[in-house]
Amino acid sequence: MEQYIIKGGIPLHGEVEIGGAKNAALAILAAANMTNETVYIDNLPDVRDINALLEAMEGIGTRIERVDRHAVKVNGSSVENFIVESESMKKIRASYYLLGALLGKYKKAQVPLPGGCNIGSRPIDQHLKGFKAMGARTRVEHGFVIAEAETLHGAHIFLDMVSVGATINIMMAAVMAEGNTTIENAAKEPHVVDVANFLNSMGAKIKGAGTDVIRIRGVASLHKTEYSIIPDQIEAGTFMFAAAVTGGDIVLHNVIPKHLEATSSKLMELGCQVHEYDDAVRVVAPSRLQGTHVKTMPYPGFPTDMQPQMAVSLAIAEGTSIVTESIFENRFRYVDELARMGASVKVEGNVAVISGVDRFTGARVSAPDLRAGAALVIAGLAAEGITIVDDIYYIERGYENLDLKFQGLGAKIEKVASEKEIQKFRLKVG
Ligand code: UD1
Repeated sequence: MEQYIIKGGIPLHGEVEIGGAKNAALAILAAANMTNETVYIDNLPDVRDINALLEAMEGIGTRIERVDRHAVKVNGSSVENFIVESESMKKIRASYYLLGALLGKYKKAQVPLPGGCNIGSRPIDQHLKGFKAMGARTRVEHGFVIAEAETLHGAHIFLDMVSVGATINIMMAAVMAEGNTTIENAAKEPHVVDVANFLNSMGAKIKGAGTDVIRIRGVASLHKTEYSIIPDQIEAGTFMFAAAVTGGDIVLHNVIPKHLEATSSKLMELGCQVHEYDDAVRVVAPSRLQGTHVKTMPYPGFPTDMQPQMAVSLAIAEGTSIVTESIFENRFRYVDELARMGASVKVEGNVAVISGVDRFTGARVSAPDLRAGAALVIAGLAAEGITIVDDIYYIERGYENLDLKFQGLGAKIEKVASEKEIQKFRLKVG
């Protein structure tokens, strides 16, 4: 089992390159199966979730050619099995994107019930409601979700809640359905727009992605394309908060500042300066962060995936802050771990009341999920002394080379796999 070991207390300085958006890439890779021609995709992050999906795609017969670490060629013409069975798929939430893609193209799909982070109940009723409205039959059997149809037809679908996954999945299924589909109360996240742009570059007719009404005119087939995935706004935000909590000054390259507005505005409330450039942002931390309040909301609101990183910042800010989680009910599981580092946080339902402390002290903590794990790493970067973060498997689902990128900003952090390596690190950092 690997861990991160961190000697904290060093302000981060320098420049960091942000990778492609994991959550956009997962849907885009699934959608690449929808044409029989070869699709080239780059700016792909090299993270566990992506590699699990690629493995599952090979399992159903997709031909994948790795061009380099961040680029692949995908050919879905040889898909001959609509049952996705890979063990690794059960662990990732986005396995369900193969449901929309395969149902859309072949009118048939069977995918393991989605896994992923344990941050709440995470049902997929809205996905299934959309498929049914288009004429599909759906059922859950022996841990699989099965969807099939003779033909799919356009439909008018009103989502009961704003769901990124349901919006993208219905959009994929509708692209080759007969007639027109309208999705109302659609999610507006940048990766919804990215998936729509990708599908349109393959010949789909999708309008309105990025607003709450998406209209899709069905087409008979899709064709090849070359596509570059958008930068990861959550990876970027994680580095921005890392600069804030360590009292640092960093520049992030390969970002779309517009996608970071909710994060930037909270950093400014914390007292940071945020400078925006064409495809870069610079974050300069104050000598002491100021407390504030935050509530997670669908885009363009403050992202739930940045909530733990924001809470870590508030936990060493001056004053009392309130964090309200309105998307996932189980997203404060890191609070006990943060308390080991000296934080003072009280959770009541979906609200956390945080009394800022002067500093964190290093401790041994364990990552409860992907984003909370990253938040504990940035807490470790700010803490006095040594922090060890266990269960970094979760973190590596969504962050490529997190340790190396922080090292590039001057942090003392290493990935270790044994007590001996931990001792070696301790001796080295003194
Ligand atoms: C995606 C992201 C995840 C992010 C989340 C919210 C991926 C792979 N994951 O997850 O990182 O935290 O968006 O921005 O892109 N819901 C239902 N029924 C449904 C679908 C959703 O009740 O059929 C509920 C969920 O339980 C949740 C809310 O709707 O409370 C939003 O979930 P959704 O936007 O669907 O999240 P995911 O697509 O799973």
